Amino acid sequence: MQRVHEIPVEVWTGPPHADDQAARALEAGDVVFLPALRFRVEEREASIFTPAILGGAKSASFDPRSDRLGGTTLTGTGAEILQRLMRRFSDAAAILVDRLLPPYRGRVKQARASFRPAEIEGRVTSWRKDDTRLHVDSFPATPSGSHRILRLFANVNSSGRGRSWRIGGDFEGVAQRFAPQLRLPFPGSSVVLALLRVTKTPRTAYDALMLQLHDAMKADDDFQRISPQTTMDFPAGSTWIAFTDQVSHAATAGQYQLEQTFLLPVDAMLDDSRSPLRILERLKGRPLA
Ligand code: SIN
Ligand code: FE
Repeated sequence: MQRVHEIPVEVWTGPPHADDQAARALEAGDVVFLPALRFRVEEREASIFTPAILGGAKSASFDPRSDRLGGTTLTGTGAEILQRLMRRFSDAAAILVDRLLPPYRGRVKQARASFRPAEIEGRVTSWRKDDTRLHVDSFPATPSGSHRILRLFANVNSSGRGRSWRIGGDFEGVAQRFAPQLRLPFPGSSVVLALLRVTKTPRTAYDALMLQLHDAMKADDDFQRISPQTTMDFPAGSTWIAFTDQVSHAATAGQYQLEQTFLLPVDAMLDDSRSPLRILERLKGRPLA
């Protein structure tokens, strides 16, 4: 059963932690929960705290490498306010991850961040996009290759509402259930998808299996019901981190969240045998990336 590993961090910046406890917990499939670490929203930023800023997407995105926003209808001053909020959050998240995870220093790459102002409960989506169903993360357009997906979440709900998650069983069990139905892609398909610009970089066999796993988990009603799972309410003003390519998760309720994605090469882990890549390679009996 997945556990939640609490660490009493109160500030985003400060001296690095001297131990490996957070990295070990994450690699074991725990959610690292920082209940006292609040990301502060400024008063003038209240104007963008509405789902009306979304242009049909479930979140607004921010690329810290280019400062570019996506998925929002905001322009002018509103866009500037969102951009500054995201910049501040992305920078804080990068510093925190660097402090908390010394074994990964210099190997973690910062990817996109998002702002999620829509209420999750009752949201109508297709089953594939329905994050209220247990799943592991996998990106269709930006294959992670042999990288882990590490995500930091901050609940920035100003009316005190928690963000409710279901957290499922360990990856090994999930992979064993679904591995027989996951099909290896035909040779050359990754190059075709990249040429057609379906993907930004070639999709490895691992990426193809993880996309199928994401879909198979969400589509399986029995699995959703019988999979071992716990519920966790992340309070407003708290922060948490997880390898979301490994931890089965579902967000069932809550509104206003910030999220920063990081990519970590599998070979930067303390023990890469616990990665989804190595577990699927073992089950499939061949290299996948
Ligand atoms: C997800 O990554 O599935 C959703 C997490 C959230 O928005 O709380
Ligand atoms: Fe997810």
